[in-house]
Amino acid sequence: MDLNKKEYIDKIKKLAKEKNAVIFAHYYTRPEIQECADFIGDSLALAQQATRVSADILVMCGVHFMGETMKILCPEKKVLIPDMNAGCSLADSCKAEDLAAFKAQHPDHMVVSYVNTSADVKALTDVVVTSSNAKKIVDQLPKDAKIIFGPDHNLGSYINSVTGREMLLWNGACHVHSRFSLEALLQLKAENPGVEVLAHPECKAHILAQSDVIGSTKALLEHTIQSSAKRFIIATESGILHEMQKACPDKEFIPVPPEITEGIGCSCNECEYMRMNTLDKLYACLRDEQPEMHVAKETAEKAVSSIQRMLEMS
Ligand code: 13P
Ligand code: SF4
Repeated sequence: MDLNKKEYIDKIKKLAKEKNAVIFAHYYTRPEIQECADFIGDSLALAQQATRVSADILVMCGVHFMGETMKILCPEKKVLIPDMNAGCSLADSCKAEDLAAFKAQHPDHMVVSYVNTSADVKALTDVVVTSSNAKKIVDQLPKDAKIIFGPDHNLGSYINSVTGREMLLWNGACHVHSRFSLEALLQLKAENPGVEVLAHPECKAHILAQSDVIGSTKALLEHTIQSSAKRFIIATESGILHEMQKACPDKEFIPVPPEITEGIGCSCNECEYMRMNTLDKLYACLRDEQPEMHVAKETAEKAVSSIQRMLEMS
């Protein structure tokens, strides 16, 4: 890491200490943002950890829905996010008004929503899940329960297959995870015999079918630490490679490239929303104590029970 970045990181850590602020970062953020963080985690761990800290200010380096979830869980805290425009294509694929209309068509169904949703969608939800706990939570629901699952269709199909449920699935997707190239994965497997393939359940079924381990970012990271394998092919956002390489310096991690889509020149597998968290924005956000996350009281009051239910059932 160059000196400028190192100096910036030191300045950010010093300022956070002076302001009694705690910095959280998702595994998909830039390596230098992860270096600033007091806590790095997947979406479940970040939500759980937020409820345990006593700091005055919580800074969420992730995407908008993660900041909202944090504010809903910790309404008395000042919650900052470095860039309010850091959205999520998956969360955007389910608008609250569309879900409300779908619910009205299926009044006997309960709603299970992935955490990658807006606060308004969570307010219409019975129980929130993340990729870490979706199977565990769906397994605990009454066997005869009729369930709407949204918004990620790939995760929903995977959870249906491992729980034997027939949940009604919303047709949403993450633009990063749904783009991994099967052709490239098969080629990587052929070139690297015996290598373990690890995939996030937001990937398409044909990618999951070629994988040895399917799990949340945290589960995949833990697997790389525990496994006796030395080389891994990784089908999830490439930010996780920083923490994997840090935890296992002697192991090799090979990212799966996405399909080359016409009009999209980039062949990387990065979430541009997560990458909107930069050192300069994080520093300015701590210094100015903005942008600050606010969630309308009425929405937060409705959404909190579906998130609390998740934390209880996790
Ligand atoms: P995790 O629940 O594994 O953190 O995933 C969140 C996410 O945004 C995946 O794209
Ligand atoms: Fe959303 Fe996909 Fe980015 Fe995760 S990787 S935050 S699901 S757009």
